[in-house]
Amino acid sequence: MNIVLVGGNSDIGRAISVELSSRDDVRALIVSRSSVPSEMRCKRFMYMDGVDLLIDAQMSRFTATLKDSFDSRFTVIHCVGDFWIHRPLDQSAISVARAHIESHYLTLYNVARHAAPVMISVGGGSFVGFSCNSVTKNYPEMAPFTSAKAAVETLIKCIANEYSEFGIQANALALPTIRTEKVGMYKIPDNQMQYITSHELAQIILEQIVSLSPLISGNVISLFKFSKAFYHKSYFERNPSGRV
Ligand SMILES: NC(=O)c1ccc[n+]([C@@H]2O[C@H](COP(=O)([O-])OP(=O)(O)OC[C@H]3O[C@@H](n4cnc5c(N)ncnc54)[C@H](OP(=O)(O)O)[C@@H]3O)[C@@H](O)[C@H]2O)c1
Repeated sequence: MNIVLVGGNSDIGRAISVELSSRDDVRALIVSRSSVPSEMRCKRFMYMDGVDLLIDAQMSRFTATLKDSFDSRFTVIHCVGDFWIHRPLDQSAISVARAHIESHYLTLYNVARHAAPVMISVGGGSFVGFSCNSVTKNYPEMAPFTSAKAAVETLIKCIANEYSEFGIQANALALPTIRTEKVGMYKIPDNQMQYITSHELAQIILEQIVSLSPLISGNVISLFKFSKAFYHKSYFERNPSGRV
């Protein structure tokens, strides 16, 4: 299994790395802007840090490494984008909305732009992006984040259609809240145990999503599990600390 994990130092990216390192059949390139701590590194994997996905000069290094590292089909998992802390639209400056469009949508755009030609040269590949169930639910106090994720979903579908003739597939996972480190800090403790963990998510990605038939493409796949908080409380009851 050939994996390129972009956003390797995010909370979910680290969980995916741990899961990857437990598998012997994986060849992985872990790409990040901040440096993955040495204790989290797997000796078998290649690491590229200091890569800002919005800077083309740094992306040339990314493309060159992809060409050197893979001679057959590979999967790019895009695990990138600023964390959202609930805030009303009128209290979110345009710089906040811009940062979300940049970190979620434009980073995926630039990764796809640079990786697709390499995928074509090795006979195909797969893109996995992360969206959020907020795109279908349109929750309040999430406009910059949700709008950026809607752009991610559309871009994934565009990639799937534009590159299908080259054996490239693209799918997005629409996530609910995942029990990560930052979610632990910002969401109310009572709800934490009801969230899917980043470890469970990593297993789902590596066992189900990476092995999807290449004909399954252009989809937004939703993940959810029953949660008392979600089904029995309103949005504002679930997120009291989100109110400013
Ligand atoms: N956690 C959840 O509950 C949840 C729910 C729905 C969707 N998701 C999605 O799942 C993905 C991972 O979430 P997470 O909570 O693990 O994220 P996270 O811990 O907040 O990390 C976000 C990562 O994005 C990277 N990044 C931002 N802009 C970048 C740029 N220009 N170039 C390179 N890297 C950049 C950051 O790099 P640095 O390390 O350098 O800052 C950081 O590692 C995101 O797309 C997120 O929206 C998460």
